[in-house]
Amino acid sequence: MKTIGVLTSGGDAPGMNAAIRAVVRSAIYHECKVYGILRGYEGLVNAKLKEMNLSSVADIIHRGGTILQTARCEDFKTEAGRKKALNVLEVFNIDGVIVIGGDGSMTGAVKLNEMGIPAIGIPGTIDNDLAYTDYTIGFDTAINTVVEAISKIRDTSSSHGRVNIVEVMGRHCGDIALYCGLAGGAESIVIPEIPHNIDEICRKIIRGKNRGKLHSLILLAEGAGNAMELAKIIEEKTSMETRATILGHIQRGGSPTATDRILASKLGARAVELLLGGKSNRAVGIKCNAIVDVDMKEALTIEKTLDMDTYNLASILSI
Ligand code: F6P
Repeated sequence: MKTIGVLTSGGDAPGMNAAIRAVVRSAIYHECKVYGILRGYEGLVNAKLKEMNLSSVADIIHRGGTILQTARCEDFKTEAGRKKALNVLEVFNIDGVIVIGGDGSMTGAVKLNEMGIPAIGIPGTIDNDLAYTDYTIGFDTAINTVVEAISKIRDTSSSHGRVNIVEVMGRHCGDIALYCGLAGGAESIVIPEIPHNIDEICRKIIRGKNRGKLHSLILLAEGAGNAMELAKIIEEKTSMETRATILGHIQRGGSPTATDRILASKLGARAVELLLGGKSNRAVGIKCNAIVDVDMKEALTIEKTLDMDTYNLASILSI
C-alpha cells in the first residue's frame, strides 16, 4: 500500500478534522502518499482531490466541521457513478480509501471493497446510531452542546414557570435525547425506540408543579415527533405555558471535546494500520474502552438497541 485516499461523507461531525489529521499524519509516518478527497463520494466521482502533507492538517484538531468538506452523493449510488470513481482511483494510483462518516458513508465504503478497492470505515456522526461501536466521533461534542443549551433554557423556563420541549437531532436514534435527558435532568425523554404516553408526560408535569417545581423540561428526539405539535398538546392538557426549541444544526458545530479528539485520533491511526496491514472491509470503533475493528458489511447489519439501563435510570431520577 503506497497511496491512501481519505474522505468525509454525509452529515459532518465535530472531530472529523481530528480523524483526518490522524489518518494523514499516520500515513505519512508510514511513508505513504495521502490524497484528501473533497466533498465525500462526490469528489471521488468527479476527481476533486488534493495531495495532503504534514502542514495540510496543522491547526485543525480543535476545529469543528471537516476541512475536506462533505456531501450526500446520489451519483455514487449508481453503477455509472461508481465506475467513474474507480477510474479516478486508478488515475491517481490510490490503493485504499478511508471513509469517515455514518451508516450511508460506510455503505459506500462496502461498495468500494466490492469493487476491489480496500476500504476502511471510521464512524463519524453525531447520531451515535452505529450498533457495532459504543460511540461515534461527534456524539460527545453534540451532547455537550445540547446540555449547555438546556441549562440556558432552564434559566428562562424557571423564570416564567413554563414547560419547555427541546427537540434534538439523531434521525431514527434516540441516543442524543436519552443522554442529554439524563445529563440535563429532563422530566421526560421522548425517543423513537420507546412508545410514549402523552397523559403520563402531562401527569409528571402537573405533579412537579404541585410540589413547587418552577419548570419542566422534555427532551424530544427528532425521530419521535414534532416539538411544536407536542408543545400544543401539552399546553392544552396541562394549562401550563409551553414552548418548543428545535436546536437544529447548532448540534453539529463547535470545537470537538477532548473525548472526541482522542477517539478520532485513535480511530484514524488504527484505520491506517489496517490498510497498511493488507486489511479491507473493516470498520473501526470503540467497545468497552478498547479500539476494535470489525467486518464492515456485517457491522452495518447489526441493529442498534437502546441502552435500557440509562433510560430506566433517567425515568427513576425524574420521578
Ligand atoms: O446524521 C446527522 C444528522 O444531523 C441527523 O441527526 C439529522 O437528521 C440529519 O443529519 C440532518 O441532515 P441535514 O444536515 O442534511 O439537514
